[in-house]
Amino acid sequence: MDHFEYRDRKLFCEDVPVSELAETYGTPLYVYSEKVLVQKLKEIQTAFAPANPTICYSVKANGNVSICRLMGQHGAGFDVTSGGEFFRALKAGPAGSKIVFAGVGKTDAEIRYALDQGVFLFDVESEQELLTIGEIAKSMGRKAAVALRVNPDLPPKTHVKTDTSVKGVKFGLDIETVVDVARGVVGHPGLAVVGLHMHLGSPILKVEPYKQGCAKGITLIKALRELGHDIRYLNMGGGFGINYRKDEAQPASAFAAVILPAVKEIGCQLVLEPGRFIVGNAAILVSRVVFTKSTGGKHYVIQDAAMNDLIRPTLYGSFHRLWPVQPAADVPVEPDVNGDPDDPNPFRAMANCFNQDVVGPVCESGDFLAKDRPLPTLKRGDLLATFSAGAYGMAMASNYNSRLRAAEVLVTGSTHRLIRRRETFKDLVACEEDCLT
Ligand code: LLP
Repeated sequence: MDHFEYRDRKLFCEDVPVSELAETYGTPLYVYSEKVLVQKLKEIQTAFAPANPTICYSVKANGNVSICRLMGQHGAGFDVTSGGEFFRALKAGPAGSKIVFAGVGKTDAEIRYALDQGVFLFDVESEQELLTIGEIAKSMGRKAAVALRVNPDLPPKTHVKTDTSVKGVKFGLDIETVVDVARGVVGHPGLAVVGLHMHLGSPILKVEPYKQGCAKGITLIKALRELGHDIRYLNMGGGFGINYRKDEAQPASAFAAVILPAVKEIGCQLVLEPGRFIVGNAAILVSRVVFTKSTGGKHYVIQDAAMNDLIRPTLYGSFHRLWPVQPAADVPVEPDVNGDPDDPNPFRAMANCFNQDVVGPVCESGDFLAKDRPLPTLKRGDLLATFSAGAYGMAMASNYNSRLRAAEVLVTGSTHRLIRRRETFKDLVACEEDCLT
């Protein structure tokens, strides 16, 4: 994996041994590679360069302010979905002028806040929301720039919980209704309908949905322009998939190959909202084995990261590669040695490998990071790395079971620095303390 590699039976992030980070900062620990973060953003910037796109990093994938700041420093704007994410984006960059604001339930206070901060575009998800934004903007003596979010009604393309462009989900305007809704606000004093937005779902491993989405988008933009709306932006959202198992992901250039011609044809400024593609493979979650045990015919590795740290396996049944940080034998160079294309686990071919469930300390049977995973024998104190944990890892972490949220560290070459300190017991009760009677 880029910039996470074994040297001499030791896992490194860039030029730092992961074990050193675990000693310094403790576990569970999110370890990010700055090189991967910047490379993945650059990959998108380069692939889409002919359209000079506005790339709005999706804060929901990972809102750490230092990571957002890095994105801003390398030319990204931000895609946000709440007042809180807006606040994070503002902390990361100088102004709201490159912030797009999506989400089905923006409150009046959030709308006002965004307008006050000079939001670039609202991605509008319903007629009521559109009219509300119009009213609020008018009352502030402003004209809100909006992109209508369409649900383009495409076939299923990813996990049912994260597919946002099939019929029957809460997102966007039904494709049949977009033109009527837009007709209703022609000449509205508080609204400038300047864009069309769609986010197809996440993660998407094929380019075909983008091709289909673009085709539907072109037809809609023409119809909106006929109504007199000056449509200047086509926002194709995020969703580009990453390698969780092996090399299943498409490069950014493959998505560019289907999106760029559409943008050219319709003469719009392209906006993109990638999150996972940039940050997903930029981090591992490092944990330490607390105990091992065999029970009910299964072998368990109980380590100190849990579903509150990384909920994706529990919530979506997601697969994350999970390897020892310091394996007792060389990790085979060629991972796909076992003939199972869905689980190219190099340890399957190694001596002493057997199926193990990697679980955490949370009081739920659904608390696991990996199930029936071929791993070598592990013992108390061993370190584990869960890969591809940068997106929707820390962002979805919670304090369930009153567990302290993990620390985050950013590695740059041979240096490293804390970008979020580990929580303390005091942090846990901070919001309750003033309310004690
Ligand atoms: N734009 C909008 C409007 C979105 O709703 C999302 C993600 C993105 C952009 C960024 O998508 P990305 O490029 O990161 O795929 N928790 C789930 C993923 C939820 C995605 C929500 N929306 C997971 O862990 O897989």
